[in-house]
Amino acid sequence: MNRARVLAADLRAAAQGRGPAVSSRAWPRELRAAFPGRQRRLEAWVGEGAAFARYGGPQGPLFLKYLPAGWADARAYRRLAREVAFLRDLAPHMPVPHAPLLHAGLDASRVKAHLLTRDLTDCTSGWGAFTTDEQRERALHDLLRLAARFHAFWHGQGRRRLTPEWTWDPAVMVQQAEALTARRPQHAPHRDAVADAARQLPDLLARAHRPTVVHGDLHSGQVLWGADGQGILIDYGQTHASIPGEDLAHVLAVRLAAPDRARLQAELLESYRDALGQAGLVLSAAEVQAQYRAGVAINLLSTARQAARTPGSGVQEALDSVATAWAEEN
Ligand SMILES: Nc1ncnc2c1ncn2[C@@H]1O[C@H](COP(=O)(O)OP(=O)(O)O)[C@@H](O)[C@H]1O
Ligand SMILES: [Mg+2]
Repeated sequence: MNRARVLAADLRAAAQGRGPAVSSRAWPRELRAAFPGRQRRLEAWVGEGAAFARYGGPQGPLFLKYLPAGWADARAYRRLAREVAFLRDLAPHMPVPHAPLLHAGLDASRVKAHLLTRDLTDCTSGWGAFTTDEQRERALHDLLRLAARFHAFWHGQGRRRLTPEWTWDPAVMVQQAEALTARRPQHAPHRDAVADAARQLPDLLARAHRPTVVHGDLHSGQVLWGADGQGILIDYGQTHASIPGEDLAHVLAVRLAAPDRARLQAELLESYRDALGQAGLVLSAAEVQAQYRAGVAINLLSTARQAARTPGSGVQEALDSVATAWAEEN
């Protein structure tokens, strides 16, 4: 369907009050019924993978994440549907602070979805509020401590709640790696590093076999910090079954610049290991290192896959970064 037809169908559904929400201005009937009264729209913006709006109303501050009218983006839908599934089925059980799901709407046939949580804007601040290197470093340690609690829980107590779709299967990842290297053209950037990571992957995964759930897109922008310093982890659109090293390497190898990594890696991994132990998953320093190394391979492969799909400069930068980290580990 072309964009004009999608838009027309979305506007028709919205005019009839059918959900999910496709606009920050007109809520579907089910959402209005669940949160009645006047919702004052405070702010609204469109991001890359979703649109967002903040409201003030009788139920307190609300935050809407949705796919706008006219979008027909199956990938964006899958992400939002995954976030809904995680927030609905798993997050309520975990001890990691998050914004609980208040309402969700999903329509797979129209690839439309929304989720509603509490708006945390007034009681939290983001990464941008940190002004000194010291504050930013402390926040990175906090980020890894949050990840540790997340990983330890889903590896341990939380594991019995994981249905097959949330269960780690290394064979699937190895197959994906093989498929990627089979079709990756000669001239593709970092081709040799990617092939090397794919070759080593089965062995790396075997040495790092700690099944859990990972956030999947962990970085400093995915935490909102409360006045008490407590971090609230957000944005579960890429959350999936994996090993802890995937998140570790996403922070360190994909998101951190090489000089910062050189300076901070050892102490960040130690903070992570310490918090993991406190949460009941005791790993040796060598085991955390094995997690990280396997995680770098996983991120190198997934970033290469993403770069092949969407050759934007952001992805290219991420690929350069993780390829550098891979070289450091080999
Ligand atoms: N519950 C919330 N309250 C206030 N702000 C939020 C909330 N959830 C997300 N945000 C803000 O919206 C931004 C985008 O949300 P996020 O879920 O991370 O989507 P994206 O997939 O686009 O990164 C966040 O970086 C944060 O600034
Ligand atoms: Mg985000």
